[in-house]
Amino acid sequence: MIFRRGRIPAGVPRKLLLMSDKSKVGNPDKPKMRKLRIAIDGPAGAGKSTVARMLAQKLGYLYLDTGAMYRALAVTAVDKGIDLNDPVKLGEMARQVDMRVREDNGVFRVWVDGVELTDRLRGPETDRAVKLLAMARPVREVLVAIQRKLAEAGGVVMEGRDITSVVLPDAEVKVFLTASLEERVRRRWKELKDRGIQVEWDEVKEEMVSRDQKDQERTWGRLVQTEDSVFIDSSRMTKEEVCSAIAELCEARTRCCTGS
Ligand code: CDP
Repeated sequence: MIFRRGRIPAGVPRKLLLMSDKSKVGNPDKPKMRKLRIAIDGPAGAGKSTVARMLAQKLGYLYLDTGAMYRALAVTAVDKGIDLNDPVKLGEMARQVDMRVREDNGVFRVWVDGVELTDRLRGPETDRAVKLLAMARPVREVLVAIQRKLAEAGGVVMEGRDITSVVLPDAEVKVFLTASLEERVRRRWKELKDRGIQVEWDEVKEEMVSRDQKDQERTWGRLVQTEDSVFIDSSRMTKEEVCSAIAELCEARTRCCTGS
């Protein structure tokens, strides 16, 4: 993957990788906390994105949606007609494209080769493509390296499938967030419906089960709950409750590190 500085088309963020205004300014009302790396993994529809976004806002941290990066490459591969079962070709593409990401008021935006793909990242077609692309180890290696770089300075909430295990195994706060299958399907079905995408309940369920299975089975970067991750079942929790629970973990971690 190439991050070019020159000839940036209009509307594309000019920073090399990712820049959030909040990451620099922070929230002046919040007490000073050590800049933690917060890693959240879990299956599809567990509410990771919503909670990670809320938490990042609360702490004045960067929100990093790694799924969006996989999704953007899946859209690109489909556009370029690359075989989603060919890891070598997919890896070549991942190394060659110019991907830029930026968090904008809680929206995680992605550009590939100067074209913004944010609005094309979510939907049944991308779901089907990304589960295949995410199995390609060469693609994962490229994205994992970028994600580690993005987290280097700390002050990030990063969510995905392999963040606690591969990307940031030494993150200060590690969470495995899940919910019952029915609840996860309900959330995804509603999300699609709210965006005007009409899909059958059973279709959403089947696709989710199939994607979870692929995510848990691949040999490299599969979805697992690491021993040191805190398990949270959000089936009967509001997003605010989940966010507070993780914020408490962060405070506990800060107290334990600073002795305050
Ligand atoms: O929002 P949802 O949980 O449905 O998915 P996502 O976080 O947008 O991720 C989409 C897909 O990208 C997942 O099903 C995985 O196959 C892949 N992914 C991954 O392999 N590793 C990550 N760190 C993040 C996403």
